[in-house]
Amino acid sequence: MHILFVTSEFHPLAKSGGLADAVASLAKTLFSRGNRVSLVLPRYQSIDLEGWTDLKIPLGVPLGDQEIWTGCHHRELGGVDLFALDHGELFRRPGIYGPSPAEAYGDNLRRFSLLSRGALQLALALDLRPQIIHAHDWPTALVPVFHRLFYRETPLGGARTVFSIHNFGYQGWSPLARSRETGLSPEERGRAGLEHNQEINLVKGALTTADALVAVSPRYAREIQTPAFGFGLHREITQQKEKLTGILNGIDREEWNPQHDTALPACYSRENRRGKALCKATLQIEFGLPPEPEVPLIGMVTRLTEQKGIGALFGNGTRQAGTERGALRRICEELPLQVILIGTGEAWCQEEIQRLSAELPNFSALIGYSETLAHRITAGSDFFLMPSTYEPCGLNQLYALRYGTIPVVTPTGGLADTVDSETGVLIRHYSPEGIFAALQEACRIYQEPSRRLEDLRDAAMARDFGWDRSAKDYQDLYSSLLDQPGEIRE
Ligand code: ADP
Ligand code: GLC
Repeated sequence: MHILFVTSEFHPLAKSGGLADAVASLAKTLFSRGNRVSLVLPRYQSIDLEGWTDLKIPLGVPLGDQEIWTGCHHRELGGVDLFALDHGELFRRPGIYGPSPAEAYGDNLRRFSLLSRGALQLALALDLRPQIIHAHDWPTALVPVFHRLFYRETPLGGARTVFSIHNFGYQGWSPLARSRETGLSPEERGRAGLEHNQEINLVKGALTTADALVAVSPRYAREIQTPAFGFGLHREITQQKEKLTGILNGIDREEWNPQHDTALPACYSRENRRGKALCKATLQIEFGLPPEPEVPLIGMVTRLTEQKGIGALFGNGTRQAGTERGALRRICEELPLQVILIGTGEAWCQEEIQRLSAELPNFSALIGYSETLAHRITAGSDFFLMPSTYEPCGLNQLYALRYGTIPVVTPTGGLADTVDSETGVLIRHYSPEGIFAALQEACRIYQEPSRRLEDLRDAAMARDFGWDRSAKDYQDLYSSLLDQPGEIRE
């Protein structure tokens, strides 16, 4: 089968979070299962063109009455045919969505309309003829919209479209006044269901027009149909539930493998975990903490956004100084543990973390982004904290399980689908008190003379969250779409 992915992120070329990992490892796994996989992404400033071939095709991308000319480069990576759309002004900028994780570019609607329409034009120009066109998250939500509106009578007309919901909290909202940037007329926008509450809502367009919808865990597929998790679209997604499936993400078991991880000071396996102690001691020193083996080390690697529980941990960002504190101070003052964190995101939270890190002797944080440190924290910590308010899938807890690091998680979305009391510690209520109680439990487990901690580690490392099962589910979904008789769509 030939599958065309359209995405704004792809690890290791462009990454802001788990989307990049999930898309890249699914693409590679589908290839290794005998499929042909092509993938289109923008050529951001950070993408160095060494190893790429300039295809030198003049690609005119129609957006309304304009035609935008883009370049296109090609390379192969892990069996996947990558195509990078090159537009100096719109794509070749720092960052993916904005110059920093907390800032978005004002013309993202135009940028990602160009990516979505450009991917389809590229497929036509190169005569790729994929059977499945699979778009990921809000930046590419216009792919099924454009496909349905403009490509039925083209060689791409027979392809089926799939839209994956990696995070329903981001729907690509824009004021109606900007709608010209999509190139669509009011009548076309109406047909594609692109408007919601007097705004453009790209994801709603994808819900309306894609042949199939996937949420990245079964539990999340159910949750987004409720007002609490639907971000204003729970009714619309419920109406489409016949075409919605939940498929759990997997992890790249080569890249995240404690037996061969070159980022670690010592490697280890489920059978022989001795190296983990050295990973911990090195990490404690690296973060300026006393290298005490008897103190439990709690690690976090995270985007600093509300979704990740920063409200309950660090305050709510709008509070007056000195009022209503998050849980972290009490945790560090009252529990016998050490906490380390690496993350970037909301400015108030970065500041609060820096303040706490300077003040508390057992909390050490780094504001920044580092793949190497992410691996070292995952390996060297005893527990991995993810107090998410919601979590579509979550990859960090899967990496932690594989490294025998016990996840402490809110049982929501993919966290609930992948962590249980045999492999982790559950935060029973999302609140400062709930997080405190869960870490108190973690400390108890750590200090217990029984084998409980070792049993948890053993069970965690025995779980297999590789891609094979889920990639098969995707393939089954793709096949079922191709088996459907050509429907009359309208
Ligand atoms: P999300 O995509 O919502 O951020 P996931 O758990 O699915 O959550 O994936 C997060 C990914 O981003 C993981 O690969 C994690 O290691 C990585 N990541 C997040 N923040 C950082 C950071 N500051 N430094 C390095 N890696 C990070
Ligand atoms: C999103 C979600 C995260 C998920 C990732 C990959 O960023 O927040 O839960 O693991 O996408 O699907």
